Amino acid sequence: MDTKLEALLNQLLEAERAGHEVLEVMARETANPEIKALFTNFTEIEVGDVSVLEGLIRLHGGTPSLQTGDFVEKVLRLPSFQEQIELLSHGQAWVARKVEQVLALSPPPEVAAFLKEMANRHRHNMEWTRAEAIKTFNE
Ligand SMILES: [Fe+2]
Repeated sequence: MDTKLEALLNQLLEAERAGHEVLEVMARETANPEIKALFTNFTEIEVGDVSVLEGLIRLHGGTPSLQTGDFVEKVLRLPSFQEQIELLSHGQAWVARKVEQVLALSPPPEVAAFLKEMANRHRHNMEWTRAEAIKTFNE
């Protein structure tokens, strides 16, 4: 596997692993039932992304990273839930941008197809998170 492609895919893998962890913690800590349901749903999807990314890296001769991104501490050390949600939304946008960098390297077709789906889902989740945050904080 091309080393640049492998490095970018591993960055995505580490970020998804971190995303999963942070959503799990936030889902557990929030008292708001809508936010809890929303994050639990996201968490289930993130777990799937991690294993698919690991599989695709392996399939093309790369080595999946075992690390978790630093996003977990970055989000959880923020003092308010609102700020955490905002950073989460930025994180989702980061994933979508990172995917565009990978696509520019012309990855194998099934890698490209999965990443496009993943990027679109993150864009969608980003809007959803923003909408939930607006509802929650304006009440
Ligand atoms: Fe994610």
